[in-house]
Amino acid sequence: MKNTSILMRAALGCAIGALLATGHSAACDACNIAFGTQLENERADSLIARDFRAAVRNQSDLLAGRGLGSGAFEPGAVCDETKNCCPEEAAEAGPVLLASLDPSAVTLAQTDEPDVPAVTPRHPTATPGRAGTAPGMRDFGGNYGRPYDRVPAEWKDDPFIEVIERDYGLPFPATSYVPQDTEPDKSFTIDLSEGTAYIGNGVVYDGFLTDGTVPGPLIVVDEGDIVEFIVKNSGSIPHGASIHSAYTQTSKYLGQINPGESGRVVFRATLPGVYMYHCAPGGHAIPMHVLFGQYGMMVVNPKHRQYEMEKIMGHKPDIEIYLLQHEFYANGKDAVEGLALYTTFNGKLFRYVEEPIMARPGDYVRIYFLNVGPNLISTFHIVGIIWDFVYWQGHPGMAWPGGQSVLAGPTDSWVIDFRIPPDEGAYTMLTHAVGSASRGAIGLIVAQKDAERTAVVTPDGPLHSPEEMAEIEAKATRTISPFKPTDFDDPVRYAPGVREVNVSIIGNSFWPKVIEIEPGTTVTWTNEDVFTYLAGEFAGIHNAAGSDGEDDFFGTPLLAHGESGSHTFEKEGVYDYICTPHPYMEGRVIVKQSDIDFAELAAGGGSAPAYLLPLVLGAFLISLFSLFVRSRTVEEKA
Ligand code: CU
Ligand code: CU
Repeated sequence: MKNTSILMRAALGCAIGALLATGHSAACDACNIAFGTQLENERADSLIARDFRAAVRNQSDLLAGRGLGSGAFEPGAVCDETKNCCPEEAAEAGPVLLASLDPSAVTLAQTDEPDVPAVTPRHPTATPGRAGTAPGMRDFGGNYGRPYDRVPAEWKDDPFIEVIERDYGLPFPATSYVPQDTEPDKSFTIDLSEGTAYIGNGVVYDGFLTDGTVPGPLIVVDEGDIVEFIVKNSGSIPHGASIHSAYTQTSKYLGQINPGESGRVVFRATLPGVYMYHCAPGGHAIPMHVLFGQYGMMVVNPKHRQYEMEKIMGHKPDIEIYLLQHEFYANGKDAVEGLALYTTFNGKLFRYVEEPIMARPGDYVRIYFLNVGPNLISTFHIVGIIWDFVYWQGHPGMAWPGGQSVLAGPTDSWVIDFRIPPDEGAYTMLTHAVGSASRGAIGLIVAQKDAERTAVVTPDGPLHSPEEMAEIEAKATRTISPFKPTDFDDPVRYAPGVREVNVSIIGNSFWPKVIEIEPGTTVTWTNEDVFTYLAGEFAGIHNAAGSDGEDDFFGTPLLAHGESGSHTFEKEGVYDYICTPHPYMEGRVIVKQSDIDFAELAAGGGSAPAYLLPLVLGAFLISLFSLFVRSRTVEEKA
């Protein structure tokens, strides 16, 4: 029994190691100890080394039965390159602690009467409903029969008071509309800007931010709360917001917020669930700002109806994980076409592999899952877990038992309730759309007896001070941006003699962002963005305008969808340019004489490049030889 456990533990360690393996060939790579040591020695000051070291330390401790965070990482002591370290390290770890349920963690309620709530209501001051469920009608879990179903007297002059009164009398929640001078129960402010964020693995993201991060802050309210949502624009272009938890106009109040200004909306959170909020300045800028990183999670906790699992277990979850899956793009074309360079949970590549979420066997865990997208579908799954209950969009009235995954398109959400089995080990969270998972959306819940639980995980992206960001940017392996050239964007070069080159404008980005051409080449920009209504930031109407840094200016007219504009570059130099309506869109034209001598190539082989000649000759000789061999074989058989 013990040996089996040891082997399983070893297998677990190897599996985690394999999860992180980066293709290095040393014998110990299955658990990455060697690679960790190598990083420690050679690249100690890099971001990847720091993150990776933490992950390796955690794995090593876990494997050796020391628990996470013990600081007992001693690579030399547990592994060398000549042996397969995983099983042996496990054997060295001594007796494996048998998993056991913490009786204080799981107390099953009496289930004879499952419909009777077994826990104290979250809001004991709320008076019970007066009406209950109408005969023959399902309980929609809404506000009817609840304290806030009465229309406040001060709303009597509202121009739509008749509609309001009708809605408050319906057997399902009213809309979120409240007069804008209504006193809020809770107030939240988010700050929208453009800038950089660290997204892990040495990668800096230069895009659009909410409160300085991607994703923005978690907002949690209770069903029935009057919510004030303030949006500040501290950026340099218009921003705004769309709040999915509001069943009413928000763009009217939060759209088109100019730099330095702010907007405000007041609404009632009438329907429990897990919602997305995102930047929404208006028009074409709405999809663009979402693609560029401005979004977050807002949760409306049910007040009058419990989640099924909570009723049965008789207590709140031991661990609550707010998990937001989302994507990062390195140019506007990829963003529009859904070719994500990275996917993450909560803003950082492999965030919860590096900092696993700690649980105890038997824990009751709830995940508030939101797939922001903005393009990819998630089939969220946890290896080793079958759901106890999932609730569609987080509504407690939509409880489904069982299931291996949840399907979530962009902005789809679920509340997921499950138990950690009575065993120690790591449970891997991922989207089973495994191509996406391999781009960074993988995390671990690690169960250990007596673990210090990670009680709450919030979806806010990692936040760093300006000083920390300066240091991170200095050490970064690469910087990516969806709309401006970075060190990631190598110049696209053309064959010598090419005198006409096309650049697309798509997804508020030039594509390619950087080109290298010879003097005398004409560049033609074509606008592939389709949204040609409105103007400025709110439209997909673009141009290309720049100079050589002296007095040589160039530019195209404003281009609607499908329109083109050209400029011929005669002088060598580096020409940086922007789109005037979207000044964060940057492109670069490098004009320089190619160092390949085209005349020499032409002389070597007529119209074909000279380097093709030996290849063609070689291929011809090989065909001749094989024909000869084949005929010999046929003759011999004959
Ligand atoms: Cu924005
Ligand atoms: Cu533009």
